[in-house]
Amino acid sequence: MVKVINHGVSGKLMEDMIKATQGFFHLTEEEKREYVGEDLFSPITNGKSWRDYLRAFVHPDFHFPNKPPGLRDIAQEYSKGAREVATELFKRISESLGLEENYIHKQMDLDEGIQIMSVNHYPPCPQPASAMGLPPHSDHSFVSLLIQNGIDGLEILHKEKWVPVYPPINSFVVNVGDHLEVLTNGKYKSLLHRSIVNNNSTRMSIVIGHGPKLDTIVGPAPELVDAQNNPPAYRPTKYREYYELQQKNKLLWPQRTFFDHVRL
Ligand code: OGA
Ligand code: NI
Repeated sequence: MVKVINHGVSGKLMEDMIKATQGFFHLTEEEKREYVGEDLFSPITNGKSWRDYLRAFVHPDFHFPNKPPGLRDIAQEYSKGAREVATELFKRISESLGLEENYIHKQMDLDEGIQIMSVNHYPPCPQPASAMGLPPHSDHSFVSLLIQNGIDGLEILHKEKWVPVYPPINSFVVNVGDHLEVLTNGKYKSLLHRSIVNNNSTRMSIVIGHGPKLDTIVGPAPELVDAQNNPPAYRPTKYREYYELQQKNKLLWPQRTFFDHVRL
């Protein structure tokens, strides 16, 4: 499910964030090397896979490069704003399930939750039809919030067809991630999506995923299951384990081995 919403982060902050991170990708390889990282759990990593990317853990501890100078402060302000939006979403999601509004926040101890920011930089591609920006996947988080630099490319799988998403300017695209599906015992469904590239403009997107602490075991909320009519459909799993599997790209569509792994 994807919903485009209004939000509490100003359009100017979104634009500043895109501009500032763009500066990061214009650094030389030498300058970026400091932030390559060692493994998935390094606070900051960057590199190239299908696209250039920068990934940072921005909560509970905030990490971000400060190249070009000033980037770190903007990223910190942006992360904080995105977090407020996510907190609000968790309230509304809890209510929509007939739960008290702070249910998800409290049960999942989100004051200590992780927030992981991925900045994607997709240069123009001479043969866009035969290339992929980011292959089909679902996000690991409860919810992720995406902004882009005005160039479209995100597609979602809807009724077995890839449907392009055209977000209004200065808006967040809210994506339901795998762990919200698990926590709500399937009432919210995570969403397969991918990004495509084009042959004339550089596309940028910034995605912030919101989850619990890495050592949290996430399973269906007891309030949302009952043995007779609505038995638990997923096995409780440690967030860290899933994140590791997903990031090593073992979980790419159509295999979706995370759900193979946790679906009962
Ligand atoms: C992601 C993602 C899509 C995009 O980073 O998880 O889905 O449009 N990005 O860049
Ligand atoms: Ni994604």
